[in-house]
Amino acid sequence: MRNLTLLVAGICLLFAGSAFAFHDAGVAHCNGCHTMHNSENGVLVDTDSPTGNQWLLKDETPSDVCLSCHASGLGAVFGADPLAPPPEKGSGNFVFLLEDNLYDGHGGGDTLPDGSWVNAIPGDAAGHNIVAPSRGVAAEATNLTGAGPGGTFPSGDLGCSSCHDPHGNTNFRLLYGGTVADPVSVQDGLYDFTNPAPAAAGLSIFFGSESNASHTAYNSGMSGWCANCHGDFHNSGNLVHPSGSSLGGDIASAYNAYNGTENMTGGVIATSYLAAVPFEGAGVTTSSTAGPSSSSKVMCLTCHRAHASSAPNAGRWDFSVTLLEEDGLESGSYAIADPYSSPNQRSLCNKCHGKDVGDAIH
Ligand code: HEC
Ligand code: HEC
Ligand code: HEC
Ligand code: HEC
Ligand code: HEC
Ligand code: HEC
Repeated sequence: MRNLTLLVAGICLLFAGSAFAFHDAGVAHCNGCHTMHNSENGVLVDTDSPTGNQWLLKDETPSDVCLSCHASGLGAVFGADPLAPPPEKGSGNFVFLLEDNLYDGHGGGDTLPDGSWVNAIPGDAAGHNIVAPSRGVAAEATNLTGAGPGGTFPSGDLGCSSCHDPHGNTNFRLLYGGTVADPVSVQDGLYDFTNPAPAAAGLSIFFGSESNASHTAYNSGMSGWCANCHGDFHNSGNLVHPSGSSLGGDIASAYNAYNGTENMTGGVIATSYLAAVPFEGAGVTTSSTAGPSSSSKVMCLTCHRAHASSAPNAGRWDFSVTLLEEDGLESGSYAIADPYSSPNQRSLCNKCHGKDVGDAIH
């Protein structure tokens, strides 16, 4: 029996490339996502839209359609339980949008006598609110008019197909990309992308999970890509943190030397890559462990996840705690793992800035 199972597993692996291909870097078979008459064997296909769907889709919104395949498998981008997310592939997880509280700063767990939160930051701040009624996610409540500072993308229309091309392309993760001279229109003419897709390579969506030796390889262009919707956010003027800019020699050296709060100068360039704090560079591969050079860049995903995380503002780590081990304590939300597994570990901003020098180890 065991041999048979192994054999079947082996055959599946052998044919994985062809048997499971769907988008195929081009347009997949239309019926995977569309229904022509909203009827199959005389039964409604999209029961949410009995009178038909605007784009003849099989479910109410584009995101619902994508999630019918990608929620719990094929990347598993919308896990079933916000306290037990599926393996990380790079983008974070939309399931955290369902959290009632993400705030782990002081008083984050305070409640009134009736049990309601006093200082909660609700789950819709976990990241991008893709409109997916089938998963209980509506448009972001506080950002309804735009994409936060810098952008004009309407939050009420945000879905998987705002960023990924449902009809396929050859870009990293099927992301949309255009140029100023040749903009690419997304969601049936809703919005134009004027910056290209990032140059990057990702992990397989069929197996594995992120680690320091297995991670998305960010090569270039991520900050410009996010700017399609966020403008020059965090980079306009002098009073915001740079993104898409070179690290320079001093910060690259600090990154390479840093091996956690308890060992700030013991790191070496060959192994200093930290998947929790990635940077962009031409030499980065999905298995590279080397740290940055002076021309490597800090970019939006140095600090954020592209989909959502269990910290406010889709943070790769929680920006509002002093020690990483405090993550999840006040709010009861999922605790993002401390890559250095130390009770004394401080904010990962220190990977580049080393500001935990001299902090008391207790
Ligand atoms: C992976 C899912 C998926 C597949 C496969 C797919 N579509 Fe679509 N299609 C969508 C979504 C989602 C929309 C709604 C607009 C949007 O969100 O981009 C759409 C919109 C459309 C539209 C109207 C708007 C537009 O962008 O022109 C047409 C026409 C269309 N699809 C045709 C097709 C045809 C023909 C095929 C097969 C060759 C196909 N689609 C395969 C998901 C898909
Ligand atoms: C019928 C099931 C199905 C549906 C519906 C579906 N996908 Fe996929 N998707 C797949 C499969 C299978 C793969 C892996 C093979 C491939 O890339 O064709 C995949 C791969 C992907 C990838 C990774 C591509 C890469 O380069 O690694 C992305 C991103 C993606 N899909 C996005 C979407 C989006 C966005 C939608 C909705 C518009 C969608 N998918 C709808 C089955 C589906
Ligand atoms: C298709 C347009 C679009 C693209 C591309 C896009 N965003 Fe957004 N983003 C939005 C919208 C709309 C909102 C506000 C609605 C929401 O928060 O769900 C938002 C909100 C955010 C937030 C605040 C989340 C919260 O709830 O506090 C962060 C952080 C963010 N985006 C980062 C990024 C990063 C990083 C990238 C690039 C990887 C990116 N965005 C690409 C449209 C976009
Ligand atoms: C704001 C833009 C944006 C939206 C909205 C978005 N994605 Fe993504 N997605 C990305 C980016 C960027 C990556 C690559 C992230 C990385 O590797 O750091 C990605 C990665 C992925 C992957 C590869 C596996 C992984 O977890 O990295 C899949 C599958 C995927 N997205 C599917 C979806 C589906 C399904 C939806 C809707 C439920 C969706 N995406 C909505 C931008 C977006
Ligand atoms: C050095 C880390 C870092 C980088 C790089 C970074 N961010 Fe942020 N981002 C943060 C932090 C921390 C916050 C929380 C609010 C604050 O401190 O301003 C935040 C907040 C946000 C918000 C929410 C703002 C609001 O008003 O709710 C958006 C949107 C956002 N970032 C987008 C981006 C984009 C787009 C990029 C790339 C151009 C980017 N960030 C690069 C750390 C970073
Ligand atoms: C990948 C490396 C990296 C990470 C991680 C990082 N930064 Fe920076 N930071 C930089 C670079 C590069 C500069 C520009 C330095 C320069 O011009 O001398 C900078 C500049 C700054 C400045 C000075 C801004 C100015 O205009 O002078 C502050 C403050 C700062 N960062 C705070 C943070 C905080 C807070 C975090 C965590 C949320 C963070 N940084 C994470 C690379 C990083």
